[in-house]
Amino acid sequence: MTPEERLWCLDGDAPTWAGLTFLDQDGYHRAPFTAGRIDRLGVPGFAFSDGPRGVVIGNGCCFPVPMARGATWDPQLEEAIGDAIGLELKASGATLTGAVCVNLLRHPAWGRAQETYGEDPHHVGVMGAALTRGLQRHVMACVKHFACNSIEDARFMVDVEVDEIALHEVYLPHFKHIVEEGVAAVMSAYNSVNGEWCGQNRFLLTDVLRGEWGFSGFVISDWIFGLRDAAKSLMAGLDVEMPYRMVRAQHLPTALDEGEASWDHVDAAATRLVATLLRFAEVLASPRPDRSAIDSSNHRGLARLAAARSVVLLRNEPVDATPVLPLDPSKLSSLAVFGHLAAHVNLGDAGSSDVWALGCRTVLDGLLEVIGPDRVVHHSGDDLTGVAATAAEADVAVVVVGNTYLDEGEFIGETPQELLSLFPGEDDPELVERYEAEIAAFPQPVKPPHVARRPASASFATGGDRRSLRLAPTDIDLIHTVAAANRRTVVVLQGGSALIVDEWEYEVAAILHAWYGGCEAGPGLCDVLFGQVDPSGRLPLSVPREETQLPVFDTHAERVTYDRWHGWRRFRRTGQTPAFPYGFGLSYTSFELGPAEVARVGDELQIEGTLTNTGRRDGADVVQVYAELPDHSRPPRLIGFTRVEVAAGAQENLSLRIPLERLATRDPVRHCQRAPEGTHRVSIARHAEDSRAQVVMVEL
Ligand code: BGC
Repeated sequence: MTPEERLWCLDGDAPTWAGLTFLDQDGYHRAPFTAGRIDRLGVPGFAFSDGPRGVVIGNGCCFPVPMARGATWDPQLEEAIGDAIGLELKASGATLTGAVCVNLLRHPAWGRAQETYGEDPHHVGVMGAALTRGLQRHVMACVKHFACNSIEDARFMVDVEVDEIALHEVYLPHFKHIVEEGVAAVMSAYNSVNGEWCGQNRFLLTDVLRGEWGFSGFVISDWIFGLRDAAKSLMAGLDVEMPYRMVRAQHLPTALDEGEASWDHVDAAATRLVATLLRFAEVLASPRPDRSAIDSSNHRGLARLAAARSVVLLRNEPVDATPVLPLDPSKLSSLAVFGHLAAHVNLGDAGSSDVWALGCRTVLDGLLEVIGPDRVVHHSGDDLTGVAATAAEADVAVVVVGNTYLDEGEFIGETPQELLSLFPGEDDPELVERYEAEIAAFPQPVKPPHVARRPASASFATGGDRRSLRLAPTDIDLIHTVAAANRRTVVVLQGGSALIVDEWEYEVAAILHAWYGGCEAGPGLCDVLFGQVDPSGRLPLSVPREETQLPVFDTHAERVTYDRWHGWRRFRRTGQTPAFPYGFGLSYTSFELGPAEVARVGDELQIEGTLTNTGRRDGADVVQVYAELPDHSRPPRLIGFTRVEVAAGAQENLSLRIPLERLATRDPVRHCQRAPEGTHRVSIARHAEDSRAQVVMVEL
């Protein structure tokens, strides 16, 4: 490689201004972002498209958001979703995807909560690794955002102060897990950690990622504002600035001349990129599938299964001695469904994870499919007098409420002054010509009706962090009104994170959290409402009773400390009771855990037990293993889980092998992991606050 070619590998191929203009013209959904392509040498570089709910370019299948998939606690299903998204990416012309988003949900108000799997590092790591496995059968995957990125509105400015123990025991283990799975690339975060921007943070990108974990892939920056100093970013271990020729193209040549950056580092970065392309050569060279692979009926089926399995049943009280759910279509003469969202395609945020899926089916579509138009009436919920009358006449009332992309999601507001200076002067006209020829080869995707209806200001200028974890007052009024008129009121929540239910919980018979359920959200939900699928979704986050139970969440923070205590660990520590604990979810049947045995065998904990379905319906439950460490200054851990299907009245054996390293602690003096020692209290449970858990003390 000539020096120019080596430098060419170090940033995106597109010129900045032409690239930005293309983005403004829906370019995000049309063509991938390319980098490192050198035709003279046959180096293909990569073509990046986002995720994580499907393929962002073209009109792909939209799966439920990761938080919903986190609620399935089903890594096998997640791997199948990864395989489907990977195939669609490949058919769309992408070779690298940013679909693996695993930042921990430190606080449920985080605007991008929907893009990750939950609040616990073990669970998030397992799900992210499963997605990576599936994706990497077809393309390279990129895990993001490394690290401690969980305040959206402040992401370009905030510094996260975090000590070595919290970092290695809470905020990094899931990244390590996915690196060990063989992920091709890591995307650095926008925020800074302990005083240095993540895109130029040597400690994170070199000492931990490569030095300690042995990561051999390449690191890309987050988009546009992911680094500020060309030389520093290179010397810190960031390989490719994305997505344009921006900061490095302007400043790196001079920095190299002046000795602020070294050619050895240029070579190391270019080598890491090319070496990874070689490692994935077989995957990348395999034939590109036909476009019929995109949004195929198989993928729709998978999306529907995931939507159904993600639904968490939070409450199901008897009315006239029988739980209100599941509904029996043969006994139902009328069902009234309330709320705009019932007839609204509600897929999640309108930022980088937006998927332009076509033919999406709403809750109303699902209901019509099961019980037909004569027995369903839809009311928007705007006129409460009409609502009360309609609710009073129906056998069952379903209220669909919650959030949309206007309430939460990725957010770019006004660009801070100091970032504006990162932009270059004019583009090189030769590059612009080449770039325009490249993007012209990609067809314009169809704009789905739900996207066409968005206000002009939508996408990155809406959403952001939530200011409140409660429903909008109009939604709450709607629930009060329907519940007062109909005893069989079922509330369906949509949204990417926790919603506080305190004001109305006990007025209604049933509550289900249905998240952003993807293109088959409606039919998937109806599979649960009508009992085709037993609700086996379990919360991947704790739902608080009120905001004061959580750590402070400052959406404009310039500085924040991340400690070891958030989510279910914090509830355990403070002794407060959440509205619904981590790992919780009801079923239409009932389960009982049998006595468990826990033994150390070599480097593993071996756990044996049983789960009995004590009810009269087939069902599935998620058995969770928690451990309290002898040192109580450290948070307890989730160390394993398994989703088990059990036929009515049957008993299944449980058998889990848990590597002891999941119990390791961080030694901040020697800067390494320390093997577990002492008496650990291991509970085999059905959620984080399960008083019927099987508890075994294990000496290590
Ligand atoms: C987001 C990333 C995303 C990238 C490219 C950024 O704004 O933070 O998550 O992968 O854009 O779309």
